Amino acid sequence: MLDTASNRPDLPAEIARRRTFAIISHPDAGKTTLTEKFLLYGGAIQMAGQVRAKGEARRTRSDFMQMEKDRGISVSASAMSFDFGPFRFNLVDTPGHSDFSEDTYRTLTAVDAAVMVIDGAKGVESQTQKLFEVCRLRDLPILTFCNKMDRESRDTFDIIDEIQENLAIDVTPASWPIGVGRDFMGCYDMLHDRLELMDRADRNKVAQSIEIDGLDDPRLDENVPANLVAQLREEVAMARELLPALDPQSVLEGHMTPIWFGSAINSFGVKELMTGIAEFGPEPQVQKATPREIAPEETKVTGFVFKVQANMDPRHRDRVAFVRLASGHFKRGMKLTHVRSKKPMTVTAPVLFLASDRELAEEAWAGDIIGIPNHGQLRIGDTLTEGEDLRVTGIPSFAPELLQQARAGDPMKAKHLEKALMQFAEEGAAKVFKPAFGSGFIVGVVGALQFEVLASRIEQEYGLPVRFENSQFTSARWVNGPKAAVDKFTEANKQHIARDNDGDVVYLTRMQWDIDRVERDYPDVTLTSTKEMM
Ligand code: G4P
Repeated sequence: MLDTASNRPDLPAEIARRRTFAIISHPDAGKTTLTEKFLLYGGAIQMAGQVRAKGEARRTRSDFMQMEKDRGISVSASAMSFDFGPFRFNLVDTPGHSDFSEDTYRTLTAVDAAVMVIDGAKGVESQTQKLFEVCRLRDLPILTFCNKMDRESRDTFDIIDEIQENLAIDVTPASWPIGVGRDFMGCYDMLHDRLELMDRADRNKVAQSIEIDGLDDPRLDENVPANLVAQLREEVAMARELLPALDPQSVLEGHMTPIWFGSAINSFGVKELMTGIAEFGPEPQVQKATPREIAPEETKVTGFVFKVQANMDPRHRDRVAFVRLASGHFKRGMKLTHVRSKKPMTVTAPVLFLASDRELAEEAWAGDIIGIPNHGQLRIGDTLTEGEDLRVTGIPSFAPELLQQARAGDPMKAKHLEKALMQFAEEGAAKVFKPAFGSGFIVGVVGALQFEVLASRIEQEYGLPVRFENSQFTSARWVNGPKAAVDKFTEANKQHIARDNDGDVVYLTRMQWDIDRVERDYPDVTLTSTKEMM
């Protein structure tokens, strides 16, 4: 077994071998390609190319919707489990498009680490930066993969500097590239003192790995052209002098990121990255909850819902709640308590997602992601326990950035539309506000593409034509404060008040000026742009 940088040495072996992580990247950096290679090395798929269809589907809107229609693919890809040596990896997919960032934020509450993929020619891009900030909020450990090294890329020191400066995190090289672009021929593995050489002829072939004894080893000269060896020796010496050495504790705390260089499409550097995930992963961590934290080694099972996907099978209005197990050893048929409603629920048909298949989960451990089919009882933020009144905290809901009025194409179907909208709201696909005054609903999303996807899904899954029209409001804020103060405020501002799908009071407005005014005129009332789901 690999040496792990564990901060929880007493975990049961089944839990200690689990690594639950997400990949964050700017679109096109190579997330899909890398995922595919992970699955290939994990033995979950036989041939590269099976995940590819999905990456391509993201490229156009219509294809995206087609993918949405094909729920089977997109859902089973939401969480993937596979083995890597003695380790069990749970890779949780984050939607690539920036319009779906809220979903991404929540996904990141269900993982213990993130792999940040950057394009060696482009460095840190906008979406990488945004996602990184979210990881930082949770001090998630981040492992960096600098991809597309087979193309002309930036100078290695420049890439590292850019990450350090833009993201304010220490970067330590885990590998060092030998040559760039057309001359790129592999990496020196700085952690294991090995030479990894890429096979350009065969994209799926495992690279050649040569054990060496330090950079003066003559085997280096035998395998690498003289000019590149000289450059490598010089750069590595400089890197060792100028860059911080690997500190596993700092990685665990999210202050330092090790960086690997490679080329996902050539399967190069992927195995080293996977070894890095195994080594620095980390294993399932303590989960924040109220009134107490949950430790993974606790024998009682607890878990929380971080994602809900409805209508996976359009013939039955089923939903799958994605549950991250926070502690214990789960067995199929277990009776768990749904803490919000205090009702027991027997989990008879949990599913595990193994690459492109779903499979009945006979058992699962802390760190795993299971899918629980249900009829709407399970919502994002819900906690399941063996009876204890515990609620997992820190799953955010964000105020939408775009608001539109939803209108049923057929006015007779307004009630049906309400039902459909509520279901999407519970799934987390949109916010739905019912204004205190007037009729209809205001729907809020983070990005414009979501309106199109919603309209298309409402039409396909519920047979309801729907129009989204401009709303008189552009911002929404949750209203908090002592009940008397909130009541007084809502009474005086009725035209601006609505309830969200959980029944919480929301203030709708057009102007930032209004928000500032409320803060001035009602000092006991606070308006917030995030709300915790629990
Ligand atoms: P994404 O999920 O992050 O959006 O990225 P994806 O893996 O789909 O990769 C984006 C493009 O980058 C793809 O090219 C892919 O083949 C290419 N790519 C990924 N890894 C590497 C690499 O290591 N080196 C090089 N040179 N290219 C890489 P595409 O032209 O959009 O698609 P395709 O026609 O190649 O499938």
